[in-house]
Amino acid sequence: MGSAGMVISSSGREIDILVKNEGMRLGTIVRIDEFYGIIAHMGYREDDRIGSKQKLVARAQVFGRLKEGRLVKIKRPVEPYSDVFLADEKELKSILAGGLAQEDSISIGSVYGARARAFLDPAEYDRHMAILASTGAGKSYTSANLISEFASMSLPVIVVDTHGEYPKLLSKLAEKTGVDIEVYTVKHPKKGYKEFKIPVYELAAEDFSHFTTLNENQKSALGFVLDRLNGKEYTLEDIVDNCSDLDDDIIHEETAKALKRRLVSLSRVFKGVFDKFGTDITKIVKPYQITIIDASYAPQGVRQSVVSYLSKELLKGRIKKENDMPNPIDYKLLFVIEEAHNYGGSKISHSCKYQLQRIASEGRKFGIGLCVISQKPSKIDDEILSQCNTGIYMHITNPGDKEHIKRSFEAIDEGIISDLDSLDVGECIIAGAMVRIPFVMCKVDEIKIKKTKKKLPRYEKPRVVEVSGFDYV
Ligand SMILES: Nc1ncnc2c1ncn2[C@@H]1O[C@H](COP(=O)(O)OP(=O)(O)OP(=O)(O)O)[C@@H](O)[C@H]1O
Ligand SMILES: [Mg+2]
Repeated sequence: MGSAGMVISSSGREIDILVKNEGMRLGTIVRIDEFYGIIAHMGYREDDRIGSKQKLVARAQVFGRLKEGRLVKIKRPVEPYSDVFLADEKELKSILAGGLAQEDSISIGSVYGARARAFLDPAEYDRHMAILASTGAGKSYTSANLISEFASMSLPVIVVDTHGEYPKLLSKLAEKTGVDIEVYTVKHPKKGYKEFKIPVYELAAEDFSHFTTLNENQKSALGFVLDRLNGKEYTLEDIVDNCSDLDDDIIHEETAKALKRRLVSLSRVFKGVFDKFGTDITKIVKPYQITIIDASYAPQGVRQSVVSYLSKELLKGRIKKENDMPNPIDYKLLFVIEEAHNYGGSKISHSCKYQLQRIASEGRKFGIGLCVISQKPSKIDDEILSQCNTGIYMHITNPGDKEHIKRSFEAIDEGIISDLDSLDVGECIIAGAMVRIPFVMCKVDEIKIKKTKKKLPRYEKPRVVEVSGFDYV
């Protein structure tokens, strides 16, 4: 193939290319001598070297050369005036696989503008991921592909599904992979699905902070009540009943009353969620299984409590495993949170944010990977977002969101974030720990589920009938 351009300046790992070929665009992988680079920005300009007429110039980041199928970093800049070639399919395959065998990598789509698959390194799952884009850009389709790929490599996945869309998306993908899908609904029994229940019997006094705010006195009063019930298989109603006739010398009457009021309100809000025994979290984490927690029917407060409880139990189970304690979670896992700004938002004071922060900072040590998905990146807590070492960015227009992404992800080129508005539905830029090159532009695989065509509703105009001087509709 002929030359697609010429290097007109070269400094460090950045080169400018005078573009001669139509095929060169954002994300294209090019070869200069034995080195490879990726186009990160394009623009028209004129100067002494390229003549006075405006010409198309591409800025590329040179990321290395191939040595025995592996990418090796470059130690000197490429030579100016060298010819630039588009990398062919075979080269793309070697670069994107990064030395990994195909069966050790995962892929959610193909390299934009090429037939080669965009391979990712699944072993980096525990350095956490973020899928960020405006609404309707294709986040859920992207995460469904990602989840399915991880599960088919045996990694158990737990998904908190805020809109109840994952059973359909993932079942479609599971037809090919054979991965099991188990759905738990929250606060809404549904045929064929199990119900997610929280075991009151197993909760310690401090665990109630997942569900309500108790002051120190109320917490210690609750501890006292739970001690009284110890050994019995009690319900929340039993706890409420036992809040009366407490020893006034130990628990102030007003504290007991306030605690009782809180617990009564809790049993109303969490009706159908609290149970005597509840869902065994250690049993929902299984290889080749995707467990979906469909929280679409639950109010926001209940969803947050479920995420808080679940996050804590997952981490606790993995810590037990590492320390050879009873009731561990035996398998490493991926924890996926849709609409993450609702649980890990910077302004949220619910315990779910602190539990997610814990998984983001400690999860890796215990084999838990976190994947946060959001259309409001600027609302997500910095501590959570900055721990996500792989970013999957899709169409984003909001300048505040772009700014937040630039601040949270050091590795990503600023120019690329500025160009995110140019991405179409289903297109994404993946950068960070799971890719070996500065970034990869990917067209995510479409999931062919039956959809009703979007149409504007057409309502009938009410007929007005006049009867003896009065209008009737
Ligand atoms: N990879 C893709 N290829 C083709 N079409 C896609 C792709 N991904 C998504 N779409 C289309 O875009 C629509 C929206 O996708 P999706 O629900 O994943 O977006 P989203 O970003 O999760 O939206 P929301 O913010 O509402 O959750 C889908 O119904 C589908 O028609
Ligand atoms: Mg979505």
